[in-house]
Amino acid sequence: MAASRGAFSSRIGFIMAAAGSAVGLGNIWGFPTQTASNGGAAFVLVYLVLAFCLAYPAFMAELLIGRYGQANAVTSLQKISRNLLHKRFAFVVGFGGIICAALILSFYGILAGWMMSFAIEPITTLLGFNEASSWLTSQSMERNLVFTALFMMLTISIIRRGVEQGIEKWSKRLMPMLIGLLVLLIIYVFTLEGAKEGFEAYLNPDISRVFEPDLLISALGQAFFSLSLGTSVMVIYGSYISKKENLVTLGAQVTLIDVSIAFLAGLLIIPSMYVAQAQGVAIFDAEGGLISGPNLVFDVLPTLFNGMGSIGLFVGFGFFILMSIAALTSSISMLEGPVSFVVERHNIARKKATTFIGIGIFMISALIVLNFDALFGLAISISTVYGQPLIAMLCCVFVGWIWFRNDILNELKQGNDMVEHSLFWKIWPWYTKFVCPTAIAIVFWHSL
Ligand code: PFF
Repeated sequence: MAASRGAFSSRIGFIMAAAGSAVGLGNIWGFPTQTASNGGAAFVLVYLVLAFCLAYPAFMAELLIGRYGQANAVTSLQKISRNLLHKRFAFVVGFGGIICAALILSFYGILAGWMMSFAIEPITTLLGFNEASSWLTSQSMERNLVFTALFMMLTISIIRRGVEQGIEKWSKRLMPMLIGLLVLLIIYVFTLEGAKEGFEAYLNPDISRVFEPDLLISALGQAFFSLSLGTSVMVIYGSYISKKENLVTLGAQVTLIDVSIAFLAGLLIIPSMYVAQAQGVAIFDAEGGLISGPNLVFDVLPTLFNGMGSIGLFVGFGFFILMSIAALTSSISMLEGPVSFVVERHNIARKKATTFIGIGIFMISALIVLNFDALFGLAISISTVYGQPLIAMLCCVFVGWIWFRNDILNELKQGNDMVEHSLFWKIWPWYTKFVCPTAIAIVFWHSL
């Protein structure tokens, strides 16, 4: 059964794929941006605490549901259900997560398209095609449609190949490239004037801001987005892990990689901003906060790269390729959620299902591009502000209140027969039952 539906062939394959899903624009763009607009290191500190104390337990819940169910999100949740009501609830939670993944992909594909067009621009500039360069870097409907379509085609072509030949193989190729590029860029930026000041700004916490509700909400949202929670993605990736693997350590390793890469991305972006300042670029907005959001990535950094002369072309190329790779390893996981559901529940061939669903999601992206002001922010809010926390919370409720404790223990024991005596087993069950749902509910309530 497992072989016919695909599975990760190795431990490292799973780690790269799950870390690939987790590490994306959220880490390399979102995290530094949020850090810049939320008091620097205070945000980093809160983020680290919430990632390990709230996101990791919820992440474990989703992985465990998938590994137990060995199926798509809906079927896996239904296998835990004990009566008709639970089964209906399972459908709402599982299908909600799948819709959430599809909606995230519809706006994420647009952002990734921007990254790809900015990655090609240094090449056209090098070749002297100035008109093409300015088309690639200025906002237009045509450019957005073309590059979103290209990015979706890449995503579709990987998912069509299946779990081992597609997701695993490509994550194993792309993730080391991503980490290598990130480290090279950091080393280079640190040789430039102004980087030290940025480094200090990044790592000097303003402790008084640590308990600000807005900061807490942003940090939790960021942690959930980063670990791809509440989207069915980690349930389906969990279902492809062998029963011989120790889930507790695998989950911790993926969380650690995710958090470390976000931290490294901060080490690249914040010092880069101060380097740009040393070159005369304005990096503070009218209210005195660091510039964040799209302006940071598409104005401040390109201005910095331009100021570096010809080496700037290579640095700019490296930076936007880094962004594109990060986006691709995440987007494939978003597409896998709906595809696995349709393949398993409706018996449709993977290639066909992938193409149809991919095109369907691209059509939503196109609708967003054509009505950008009205729909872009709306798609982000529905999926990330409401959808993800709500569904992640309901997955915790499933594990904490519906699934029998003994069955959970038996599942965890596979690949880890001493788990019963571990600290994890002493804390995690009641944590998932009480602390996670309550904390997520409080933060969610506040964000409304
Ligand atoms: N974790 C990805 C990032 O940080 O960019 C985003 C993401 C991937 C969200 C997969 C949701 C998802 F299902």
